[in-house]
Amino acid sequence: MAILKVKTYPDEVLAKRSAEVELLRPEDLEFIKDLIETMFQSDGVGMAAPQVGVSKRIIVISPEAKKGKEKVYINPEILLQSGTQLKEEGCLSVPGVTAEVRRAKTVKIRARDLEWKETVFEAENLEARILQHEIDHLDGKLFIDRLGFNQRREILPGLKMLRSKS
Ligand code: NI
Repeated sequence: MAILKVKTYPDEVLAKRSAEVELLRPEDLEFIKDLIETMFQSDGVGMAAPQVGVSKRIIVISPEAKKGKEKVYINPEILLQSGTQLKEEGCLSVPGVTAEVRRAKTVKIRARDLEWKETVFEAENLEARILQHEIDHLDGKLFIDRLGFNQRREILPGLKMLRSKS
């Protein structure tokens, strides 16, 4: 297993739409293990493949932040969303920046699992928030793209700092 390098804003891989996974190859399974390891190593509760430079629709989440309890979703899609929640959010790819982000409170998701079985499930609160955040990554969207004008202005210095380091 390997710890992968996490790409940070404004790396262009974070801004593009990731490709659907057509089938899982052995090397994809190895990659997913590395992605999980990298998430835990970084103290994250979720990670999307493009965050480590792999533009494929794969996410791993661990709402309980517990090894062995992580979940892997391939080609995840949001079928339904309802309610709203407003909570502080950050991202391993936007270090040092946090902001309150409005998200749906509950989501219904369709995805494939590691056995390539289709699964449809509902999630709420933190788990729903993580899923929405990670699926955004697959569409080339960061949480900073979901902020209002005033919030955006507040985080500008943080973003400038990240741009200057790139
Ligand atoms: Ni993120």
